[in-house]
Amino acid sequence: MFDLTRFSLEGKVAVVTGGGRGIGQAIAMGFAKAGAKVAITSRKINDLEETAAQIKAFGGEAVPIQAHLGKMEGIQAMIDTVMEKFGRIDILVNNAGASPAMASVLDSEERLWETIMNLNMKGLYFISQAAARVMKKQGGGKIINIASIDGFHPERTVSIYSISKAGVRMITKAFASELAEFNIQVNTIAPGPIHTKMMDSHWINFTPEEAAKAKAAAGELVPMGRIGEPDDIVGAAVYFASPASDYTTGTEVVIDGGVLLAPLLNAPGVPI
Ligand SMILES: NC(=O)c1ccc[n+]([C@@H]2O[C@H](COP(=O)([O-])OP(=O)(O)OC[C@H]3O[C@@H](n4cnc5c(N)ncnc54)[C@H](OP(=O)(O)O)[C@@H]3O)[C@@H](O)[C@H]2O)c1
Repeated sequence: MFDLTRFSLEGKVAVVTGGGRGIGQAIAMGFAKAGAKVAITSRKINDLEETAAQIKAFGGEAVPIQAHLGKMEGIQAMIDTVMEKFGRIDILVNNAGASPAMASVLDSEERLWETIMNLNMKGLYFISQAAARVMKKQGGGKIINIASIDGFHPERTVSIYSISKAGVRMITKAFASELAEFNIQVNTIAPGPIHTKMMDSHWINFTPEEAAKAKAAAGELVPMGRIGEPDDIVGAAVYFASPASDYTTGTEVVIDGGVLLAPLLNAPGVPI
């Protein structure tokens, strides 16, 4: 009979990239509540330290690791630090993502391509490779990649981001296919609009009043009637990280309040 303890992360070590704010922070806190020790990593040490303090405040264990994950040397140093601190990696969440600067396909510059691809695709690929090498030696593990509904349906003026997120979905399938024999499961979560700093960047040139109005209007267009919160992503992440998903690999869960059901929402001027 199925036992609910299969959702527990007790005794596991998890790495959450971009774990200092937004969706990554919510996942890191959820994992810690489910019993995991968490390494949270990104560029800004203050966000990481604040998140680690919040996790410690409810009795969890968290280590902040500062790293630039769009650079190869940053990636290996981050993995080495996790191994020094915890000695193993059971779960990796590739959540860190570059904010998409707005530009049409006619105006996007090479620098934008490199910033986005170096983190969202190249970084994600090689972090997964480094963690998978550890997991293979350990006899198994879980990798969760955060893509986006933009990887299913291109968002206007963020073409490079959309292309990177379609790539993330294929990285999941490629890794899942080759790593199944080592008992490593690899899955994708594809969020729709979620209230975070990245979401707010859509309205960066608006006054606070205009931004609040535009956000509320965007929320009303979502079939579920609201923009999501980071906590809306956590349940699926705990499932993919836990033994409950041991027979699930190469698959994806879309968490978007129904946006993909209504592709006409993605019209000019509608930032979702
Ligand atoms: N919010 C949405 O509506 C939405 C929708 C679909 C998918 N997503 C995806 O969800 C993930 C999390 O995004 P979010 O919305 O929570 O955005 P966010 O609040 O902007 O968080 C992005 C995280 O990535 C980290 N990061 C950015 N560049 C980095 C780098 N070069 N090296 C290391 N860390 C880096 C940031 O930390 P530092 O700045 O400290 O480095 C931050 O912790 C992303 O992959 C995003 O594409 C978000």
